[in-house]
Amino acid sequence: MRYSLQSGLILAASMAAPLVDAERVLGAYLYSRHGDRTAKVFGNTELTDLGYHEVFAAGSFYHDRYIASDSDKQIEGISDAIVNAEQITASAPADAVLQNSATGFLQGVYPPAAKAASQTLGNGTSVQAPLGGYQIIQVQGTDTSQDSENSAWLQGSSDCSKATVSSNNYYTSNSYKSMLASTKDFYTSLSPMLNTTFSADEISFKNAYTIFDYLNVGYIHNSTEDFPLRDNLTTELYAQLLQLASNQQYNLAFNASDPVRAIDGAVLAGEILSQLNETITSNGKSKLGVQFGSYGTFMSFFGLMQLPAASVDFTGVCDYASTFVLELVTNATGTGIPSTDDISVRFMFHNGTITGSDEPTVYRLFGQKNDLISWDEFKTRTEKVAILSDDQWCNQCGNTDGKCASSASTSSTSDSTGSSGSSSGGMSRAVAGVIGAMVTLAVILGLEALFFLVGGFRISKRRKAGPEMISAAGVADDKK
Ligand SMILES: *[C@@H]1O[C@H](CO)[C@@H](O)[C@H](O)[C@H]1NC(C)=O
Ligand SMILES: *[C@@H]1O[C@H](CO)[C@@H](O)[C@H](O)[C@H]1NC(C)=O
Ligand SMILES: *[C@@H]1O[C@H](CO)[C@@H](O)[C@H](O)[C@H]1NC(C)=O
Ligand SMILES: *[C@@H]1O[C@H](CO)[C@@H](O)[C@H](O)[C@H]1NC(C)=O
Ligand SMILES: *[C@@H]1O[C@H](CO)[C@@H](O)[C@H](O)[C@H]1NC(C)=O
Ligand SMILES: *[C@@H]1O[C@H](CO)[C@@H](O)[C@H](O)[C@H]1NC(C)=O
Ligand SMILES: *[C@@H]1O[C@H](CO)[C@@H](O)[C@H](O)[C@H]1NC(C)=O
Ligand SMILES: *[C@@H]1O[C@H](CO)[C@@H](O)[C@H](O)[C@H]1NC(C)=O
Repeated sequence: MRYSLQSGLILAASMAAPLVDAERVLGAYLYSRHGDRTAKVFGNTELTDLGYHEVFAAGSFYHDRYIASDSDKQIEGISDAIVNAEQITASAPADAVLQNSATGFLQGVYPPAAKAASQTLGNGTSVQAPLGGYQIIQVQGTDTSQDSENSAWLQGSSDCSKATVSSNNYYTSNSYKSMLASTKDFYTSLSPMLNTTFSADEISFKNAYTIFDYLNVGYIHNSTEDFPLRDNLTTELYAQLLQLASNQQYNLAFNASDPVRAIDGAVLAGEILSQLNETITSNGKSKLGVQFGSYGTFMSFFGLMQLPAASVDFTGVCDYASTFVLELVTNATGTGIPSTDDISVRFMFHNGTITGSDEPTVYRLFGQKNDLISWDEFKTRTEKVAILSDDQWCNQCGNTDGKCASSASTSSTSDSTGSSGSSSGGMSRAVAGVIGAMVTLAVILGLEALFFLVGGFRISKRRKAGPEMISAAGVADDKK
């Protein structure tokens, strides 16, 4: 009775108001660039107050879209006032600007919950979190992840040998050489704006990004007292500097004929695929992934997902606090996770801080003709470009040391060496392999060994990420 009454009401509502959106959001993955920060050329970059505002505003936007109970895009079943740690996974490289951006963003995603967050102790005293009910959400380092299934390999290109070689090759490409030559006079003409910080031989296309970044940060933060030629940085000049920086950085991040260059994007694609897959296979237990990263990773990922086919703007450096999101959606009726045939993925991007009535724009992945891509198609196509295991990472990167040592010695037959995994090398194998080995070892060595391994694994998960970098030659180290 009640059921048919409800569906009757829904039918009536949809007939009365055809704009009512029957679509259900099952989960989402948000990837964001940090907010405004200090210039890279001086090192020790810090998130500024402005940058904190930007990421907080963006986080608040996504709270209103995906968390708030009055939103028609609320992720189905997500806790709306008090964060449920099981439902959300947040990560960022071990880097002050990125980690702090993630924290500021999450403050917007789950704002202080005041009374709702208070707990009552055994003696009847009620305790509220500090800062008006501030909710703490853990931010994992990105060479790690909450899901131990895919943690240890998640460390981008910082020590991926072949990716470093590939990016360095850019500096011998014709594209680079011709840009270097054709922009020589242009950069030299900017010396009066740059010469307190850059030496004459640093003022060239080789440092296109660092120069753009220095002037951009100076323009935002310095008055003409600190930046006497501030007014000479016209809109046209700014656009030209950004365009040159984008050309250089996109080429460093992605090259269609040399896939390993986009290793950062491939690792991210694997992370996103696993998280969305987890939402489905856990039957909606895990719902929202949030990750912060550099524009370089955006560019690698955009290249791999063929977004430049949707808009050439995807080859440009995106603005601070830009976000993209992949939504898992369905029009199947009912609740819970439907059959995967009924699930689709929608990609959306917003350039720069998103606030108020702005909306992220839908773009088509993989050069497709539809805004939505079916889950199966998304999975198949993403698997082709993603890194999904340690072994795959070691193979593509050509690394044979460190965590790849055991992977290299066992090469393709990753399951055949359960007992040799009892050496310490066994702990740094492919994570899936580690899990397999752990099960085998638990039988062989008993539970104590299992606890030891779990403990050891946890410690290695906390290892700090190296600086985010794709290239070693000339450009400033990390690509934030
Ligand atoms: C209740 O327990 C808390 C924590 O132990 C303590 O701080 C508080 O003073 C206690 N309240 C009363 C009324 O005893
Ligand atoms: C892209 O990769 C190809 C093949 O390795 C290489 O010939 C070309 O120079 C690269 N282009 C850039 C801009 O790095
Ligand atoms: C920078 O360039 C300006 C204009 O050409 C010149 O006056 C100044 O001396 C230069 N400063 C340095 C540190 O070279
Ligand atoms: C902005 O001000 C800082 C601090 O005075 C200075 O180091 C930097 O060179 C200035 N930036 C520009 C673009 O002039
Ligand atoms: C800066 O702009 C002023 C006013 O347009 C111009 O006179 C001056 O030559 C410019 N300086 C430089 C170094 O470009
Ligand atoms: C998706 O999840 C299932 C079940 O946990 C797992 O077997 C499969 O490997 C996962 N696939 C990807 C691409 O993560
Ligand atoms: C974002 O905006 C910047 C300019 O501020 C541009 O360089 C870049 O191409 C844009 N990216 C996208 C995907 O729209
Ligand atoms: C659900 O239906 C609406 C209205 O026809 C459509 O715009 C939307 O793309 C559909 N969503 C999915 C996941 O099929």
